[in-house]
Amino acid sequence: MKRSPIGWILLASIITITCPLKAQQKEAQKKQFLNQLIQRMTLEEKIGQLNLLTSDMDVTGPFMKPGYKKDIEAGLCGSIFNAYTPQYTRQLQEMAMKTRLKIPLLFGYDVIHGHKTIFPIPLGEACTWDMALLEKSARIAAQEASADGLHWTYSPMVDIARDPRWGRVAEGVGEDTWYGVQVAKAKVKGYQGTDLSAKDAVLACVKHFALYGAIEAGRDYNTVDMSRRRMFQDYLPPYKAAIDAGVATVMTSFNEIDGIPATGNKWLLTDLLRKQWGFKGFVVTDYTSITEMINHGVVKDEHDAGALALNAGVDMDMQAGIYASQLKTLVQEKKVTVQQINDAVYHVLAAKYDLGLFKDPYRNCDTALARQVIMSPAHLQAAREIAQRSIVLLKNEAQLLPLKKQGTIALIGPLANSQRDMIGNWSAAGDGSKAVSLLQGIKNKAGNNVRVLYAQGAHYTSDTGLLKKALQKARLDAQDTANSAQLLAEAVTLAQQADVVVMALGESQGMTGEAASRSNISIPENQQQLLKAIRATGKPVVLVLSNGRPLTLEWEDANVPAILETWFLGTEAGNAIADVLFGDYNPSGKITMTFPRNTGQIPIYYAHRTTGRPLNPDNKYTSKYLDVSNEPLYPFGYGLSYTTFSYGAVQLSKQQISAAAPLQVSVAVSNTGNYDGEEVVQLYIRDKVGSVTRPVKELKGFKKIMLKKGENTTVTFTITVDDLKFYDKDMNWKYEPGDFTVFVGPNSRDAKGTDFTLN
Ligand code: BGC
Repeated sequence: MKRSPIGWILLASIITITCPLKAQQKEAQKKQFLNQLIQRMTLEEKIGQLNLLTSDMDVTGPFMKPGYKKDIEAGLCGSIFNAYTPQYTRQLQEMAMKTRLKIPLLFGYDVIHGHKTIFPIPLGEACTWDMALLEKSARIAAQEASADGLHWTYSPMVDIARDPRWGRVAEGVGEDTWYGVQVAKAKVKGYQGTDLSAKDAVLACVKHFALYGAIEAGRDYNTVDMSRRRMFQDYLPPYKAAIDAGVATVMTSFNEIDGIPATGNKWLLTDLLRKQWGFKGFVVTDYTSITEMINHGVVKDEHDAGALALNAGVDMDMQAGIYASQLKTLVQEKKVTVQQINDAVYHVLAAKYDLGLFKDPYRNCDTALARQVIMSPAHLQAAREIAQRSIVLLKNEAQLLPLKKQGTIALIGPLANSQRDMIGNWSAAGDGSKAVSLLQGIKNKAGNNVRVLYAQGAHYTSDTGLLKKALQKARLDAQDTANSAQLLAEAVTLAQQADVVVMALGESQGMTGEAASRSNISIPENQQQLLKAIRATGKPVVLVLSNGRPLTLEWEDANVPAILETWFLGTEAGNAIADVLFGDYNPSGKITMTFPRNTGQIPIYYAHRTTGRPLNPDNKYTSKYLDVSNEPLYPFGYGLSYTTFSYGAVQLSKQQISAAAPLQVSVAVSNTGNYDGEEVVQLYIRDKVGSVTRPVKELKGFKKIMLKKGENTTVTFTITVDDLKFYDKDMNWKYEPGDFTVFVGPNSRDAKGTDFTLN
């Protein structure tokens, strides 16, 4: 049938009117269903829905509560974490289906960088500067997790972090707010998809709300103190971006905010999150963080802790069991109301409803699907591509890399033949024995013309105190600290037989992540000794680093010709590193967290404010150290390629910008080296004069381009007044007329600037 233009318009208006109507109807049906259900629930059953307990399958926190199965059977526990596989979740779900109201269980888990196909740790993956890939890894994680019985992941972690002593920097995307916003959006979309009722969608959980990344001295679980301005300008936007992207759940943080722990902070969880930001999902605590408010000293006992949490706006209690034990008497004493409990229950049940669990509680219990989806060839291929793109080339003197597929290569170091380390910390259900070690990756690639020799060379560390603490949580692989001298001697002998030495050094995965803060973030001393001994043989050395945080690498940078930062790259790590070592993939990653020269420079980040006495090397009384420069070793956004790129001058479409007329910024970029390659072209802005002090520059855009050898292109960005907004002196989000500089370049240090004016 041919339709007239009017016919098309009519059809379009019918669709636009009926679609929201349908959505409204659906919402009304949901409300009716849930409210009727809540009316039928006893107070105990309601409280049960607010109680989240860990199974004994996998425990991620300090202690277990035995008897969780009894609680499920009695309808006193509505959600379980750390339980997966279709078989096991079915078994637990069947228990819930025998309860009076048959309310399905919700299964959560820390699927942080992949479920069984493990992707690079988030700080590594961030170096791809590729939002489509970041979304893709979350999508795959959701597909695998949901096929494995899960409904809910405790990800993304979007805590802005500027202190690499904190072991949890590995879980986030680093120091930059604007970049963190982009990643938050991509991840929520990847996990949740467009429809939560789709079988392969999982609820995302943005964490840790809020400010956990700003803990003092980088010591995990420590306190936080911050001005409102810094909070709103630098730390809150990524959480807000996740809310705007429709994230279904929010996890509170362990730290306090302005004197009140996040888990008991009404301003944070109700005024800001619900009222100002319009969050509609449910809020879960972090592991036992309700109980921990007693240690914080803001409540005297569990009873008061429960009241503070519920009154603040916490819907679900993770593992503390305080809602389960205290809410009933709190209602009797009128310290909390039944209406508050009903609201919390509604938030939780709505998530179960959105997932379609009331229709099919076993929707994620399909063993055949699990076999088909989990670690499929396509997923492994994606893991390899993302791992390649997460690698950052920090140094490459005299083009030592890429290696030729000939001669003798000695591979030396405690991380050379490790599978477990490759999948990193928080590798969820990932299986280290399925990961490709660097040794295996090199062997897979090198072919018959290359002789590959291997020696361990050193233990991860000779610091037995560190080992003891890390091993307490069994997250550092056990090792024998004896025979160090022998290991070193063997390695030196091996190196002498080689044409080139690849040194695999860094941190064990257990030296990073939660509860793994370090005050000294260098490569452990015994590994440095090994590196020095090998360097002294005079053989060319390529340093391949595995680690979960920026390290201090001054000696290495000054003395080792080639350095590759490979983080913990996941299941395909060894293959991906070999792809880069031999030039089958030309590295394009750029760091999203500054690498300091030494720990004394911390906190160090590129978007710092100006001071009244900016650095002047000739004047003692300016802002600087006597013993180290102000500059980091590797700045934010830095990373090399096997080829070289040259940048032309920054061109503006005009010198003036207004709200009505945005500005075009363009720059010519050429590939001037000998390889095809990708480059992340970065745009930063500086507001020269503001009603409050402004950062020296802020990332406001980037483009990742591919240029063939000898090729050039013009990269264009559009700046609108929205890119110039900030919290002004009265805490209003607005732009101020005046002068600005826009910088474009390969990283935050080397970007070249030109000025424009906002009228
Ligand atoms: C961590 C969270 C995690 C939770 C559940 C806590 O210790 O801080 O990030 O999601 O455990 O495993």
